[in-house]
Amino acid sequence: MRSSSVFIVLLFCTILALSQTIDEQKKAINLLVSKMTLEEKVGQMTQLTLDYVCKGAAFDDHKEMFIDPARLDSAVRIHHVGSILNTGTYTLSRNKWYELITQIQNKAQTTRLKIPIIYGVDGIHGATYTQGSTLMPQQLALAATWEPNLAEQAGTITAYELRASAIPWNFSPVLDLGRQPLWSRFFETFGEDPLLASAMGNAMLKGYQGNDLSSPDRVVACLKHFVGYSLPFSGKDRTPVLMPERLLREYYLVPFAQAIQQGALTVMVHSGEINGTPGHANYHLLTEILKDELKFEGFAVTDWEDIKYLHTVHKVAPSYKDAVAIAINAGIDMSMVPSDIQFCKYLIELVKEGRVAISRIDDAVSRILWVKYKLGLFTKSIHDFNDYKKFGSEEFAKLNYNAAVESITLLKNESQILPLNKTNQKVLVTGVASNSLTPLNGAWTHTWQGRESKYNPKNKKTIFQAINDKIGNKAVWIEGTSYDQDINTEKTVEEAKKSDIVVICLGEYPGTEKPADIEDLNFDKIQLELVKRIAATGKPIVLVLAEARPRLITEIEPLAKAIIMAYLLGNEGGTALADILFGEANPSGKLPFTYPKYTGALTTYDHKFSETRDTKFGFDAIKHQFPFGHGLSYTQFTTANLTIDKTSFNLLDSVTVSVDVKNIGAKSGKEVVQLYIRDEFASITPSIKRLRAFKKIFLHPNETQKVTFKVAIKDLGFVNYYNQWIVEPGDFTAMIGNEQKGFVVVQSPK
Ligand code: BGC
Repeated sequence: MRSSSVFIVLLFCTILALSQTIDEQKKAINLLVSKMTLEEKVGQMTQLTLDYVCKGAAFDDHKEMFIDPARLDSAVRIHHVGSILNTGTYTLSRNKWYELITQIQNKAQTTRLKIPIIYGVDGIHGATYTQGSTLMPQQLALAATWEPNLAEQAGTITAYELRASAIPWNFSPVLDLGRQPLWSRFFETFGEDPLLASAMGNAMLKGYQGNDLSSPDRVVACLKHFVGYSLPFSGKDRTPVLMPERLLREYYLVPFAQAIQQGALTVMVHSGEINGTPGHANYHLLTEILKDELKFEGFAVTDWEDIKYLHTVHKVAPSYKDAVAIAINAGIDMSMVPSDIQFCKYLIELVKEGRVAISRIDDAVSRILWVKYKLGLFTKSIHDFNDYKKFGSEEFAKLNYNAAVESITLLKNESQILPLNKTNQKVLVTGVASNSLTPLNGAWTHTWQGRESKYNPKNKKTIFQAINDKIGNKAVWIEGTSYDQDINTEKTVEEAKKSDIVVICLGEYPGTEKPADIEDLNFDKIQLELVKRIAATGKPIVLVLAEARPRLITEIEPLAKAIIMAYLLGNEGGTALADILFGEANPSGKLPFTYPKYTGALTTYDHKFSETRDTKFGFDAIKHQFPFGHGLSYTQFTTANLTIDKTSFNLLDSVTVSVDVKNIGAKSGKEVVQLYIRDEFASITPSIKRLRAFKKIFLHPNETQKVTFKVAIKDLGFVNYYNQWIVEPGDFTAMIGNEQKGFVVVQSPK
């Protein structure tokens, strides 16, 4: 037995080394699969949480983690487990990560086939769980840059710092669309538009994966959460989604389809249900669409404990074992179990009973081994600790700062109150987000919920610290409120009376998933009260919003002279905000979602015309606080001379739209030029407009640039009644800024 396994490993390695083409490499993988026992195969499909192989109670935030040799041995050698994830809920040093993962990989080397373990974590806005990592703007903030290069850089830094922690698999990016503002994971998305989300998602994917996954500074990405997860009807996480397939295809599938085409190799599955079918039981989505139609070559991993939940939560399986059969037959390749080993036992029994075909198991295992191979884990599962000199470096901090600056979105600037003067101003800084990095980072920061401040780096500035540094220690800070409790509002109001300007930084209690479900989209009453009380002093207010979703500010918006959307900006957020406040940087972020004004008026920018009908039989029903794509600058831009290359196009053509953009203000600045196109009439009610192209440009004062977009007519289509993409000939209107022009699409020549 021993010598035959040595022979298999040698044979496999030699064949792989000699394999030149993808076909040959896949054949080598299949050869390895053919030599595996059923138990070894099922083990590969199993993913456990790190706690499972560590000493002590699971998820103990206070104890240092140590591998329990007996538990590791049982997981890897007895149950042949192929993947481990997560951390014991808190952040570890690089050394600790190396220590833990080296032990895990060494154990895998003692197994019969020496198949390496694939280790994964949620590096959501940087290497979440590694001390000293570069924590960048969360995805929603990155989307506000409208600059895919910045998303690519963020991906590159995260990949580097994860590999510097011996971790090769990142459960990111989230490609769900943020169209339900109540949803607790809104900030994890790239916003409401599929074109913008796809562009940012593809760029981030490129940053994670590069051109060669096996290089020591790249990780394999995991697209989340396949698919349609982000539109829970109730707004609560993991509750039912009702979504016709045509909508799913036209919006929610788009970023996934594009990323898969760009080489994404793992997806994580939607934890809730669509139209009554749980994501993990959905053969149509997982097999027919993901694997057959999109030709996805990687593997699908479940979300946390989600196979068991088919039995205990979704109630589509009368037992856990039935749940395993349903999920694996639907197309699940790996189960994030994550804390028990029954999954293996049930799956082995199911194969022996003929309820799960061995061909399905072989398919899942070869997909998993393919990804391990592409990552280079068979040759080198851990790279040299000392090869990561750039970890947490100044170079990364600068890129992080740039991303934060470009994310910041100036929503309002009455009487040009911003930028502030550095001299002769008494500035009071207050609010829950004013003097802590915790609300600036949000969830997935050092811990899952990001609520623990003890891991915050000491060398990164809060908003107050950055403002104070800028004006020579003359700023005053008073807390005001916590997230939902009064602390010293009275004292703050008294101090406000002595100030020239008050910067109030409201914040949302960090959180994600179920713990961050909310009952009310309105901002916490106590924080609104702080703004109202300060406004009553008559002192000008600059409002900074550090929030994970658009909490309603309808009552206080008129009370603020300036409003800045800070999203969750990460560790350079304080510094970036102070630079914007004092005009050392010019804001250029644009909202990647529609900021609502009322709970009863939650619409997206691409709503239907019927949604505009109001109570007076007019068409004025849309009431947004701030529209999608909105964001001011310290300079002004105009758009003029919109031209379209022709008036009539056939279905195979491309339309070329150009416009002159001019900086008519006194400062240099960046502007996002946004091309929207409306299909005037269609067999499925058309949106009032759809974003079809965008570009961020930089202009000096008085400079004009002609911006030209070329869009294929086929990309102006929609998904019709029969779930097919189609462009119907007819009238279209192109819009940029205040300019618009019509054109016609006619049938293609035969
Ligand atoms: C989340 C996923 C995450 C996974 C692993 C789940 O609860 O829904 O987004 O990747 O946990 O941490």
